[in-house]
Amino acid sequence: MTPVPTLDLEDARLLVLTGAGVSAESGLATFRDSNGLWEQHDVQDVASPEGFERDPRLVWKFYSLRREQAKTVQPNAGHRALADVEKRLQDRFMLVTQNIDGLHQRAGSDRVIEIHGSLFRTKCSRCDRAPFDDQALYLEGALPVCRVCEGAGHEALLRPDIVWFGEMLDQGHLRAIDAFMRRDPGSPSVFLAVGTSGVVWPVAGLVNLARSLGASTCLVNAEPADNTSRFHSFVQGKSAEVLPALFGLNRAGH
Ligand SMILES: NC(=O)c1ccc[n+]([C@@H]2O[C@H](COP(=O)([O-])OP(=O)(O)OC[C@H]3O[C@@H](n4cnc5c(N)ncnc54)[C@H](O)[C@@H]3O)[C@@H](O)[C@H]2O)c1
Ligand SMILES: [Zn+2]
Repeated sequence: MTPVPTLDLEDARLLVLTGAGVSAESGLATFRDSNGLWEQHDVQDVASPEGFERDPRLVWKFYSLRREQAKTVQPNAGHRALADVEKRLQDRFMLVTQNIDGLHQRAGSDRVIEIHGSLFRTKCSRCDRAPFDDQALYLEGALPVCRVCEGAGHEALLRPDIVWFGEMLDQGHLRAIDAFMRRDPGSPSVFLAVGTSGVVWPVAGLVNLARSLGASTCLVNAEPADNTSRFHSFVQGKSAEVLPALFGLNRAGH
């Protein structure tokens, strides 16, 4: 790990973006470390609307296994460091995660935007009823259907509430991030990206927005990301080791 500076967060707002790397030390595989495959699957098969249309059974099996797996792992020191800094900064803190595993919330983070959705919510593939909490596993047998659509005489499958490749991000989420970044112009702000390869757009472009609004920007990643050059500073290392140091949580008396 490269030497870790301590972030100066006195009076600053902090926007953190996390990716699959933050959960790697909890035992969840990232895409990048498996050559762009997600648990041996081509992402287009399990993380696109076309993949779901082709083979909904495979997709539900995949996310059911992810649901099971996420429950067997624990948040790590990186997740905990972010929950800790949130307690200190309160409304000067916002966490945007691309992860769908729920580990940030389990570590105690509250101000979390799950920009790519959640493993533990389900929605309809056809109607716009609100997504609902769901821990169910669909490993075999009948696939879940939407009762609202059924009542209206349509057949529609339920699907995971995940933003798949080719799908739009939630506009409400984007507005909330934008408002947070533009709040109190003139006051210092920091944008920190952690454990994300910087290849999945439009989230990979958040660093550009942050810079254009005057934020200082820092990347923490195990290896250089695709957009490393966009950041003012890059700390190469594992998030569970780097984040506590970056927030000064390793100092005596803390
Ligand atoms: N845990 C999850 O929820 C999970 C897991 C896999 C994929 N996904 C989905 O895949 C998409 C992938 O994009 P992404 O950029 O988040 O992931 P990615 O897999 O593309 O990149 C992960 C990055 O993290 C780095 N990394 C690996 N271990 C690390 C560690 N211990 N500390 C710091 N960095 C580490 C890697 O070098 C890599 O650059 C996301 O949209 C997400 O929804 C989610
Ligand atoms: Zn429906």
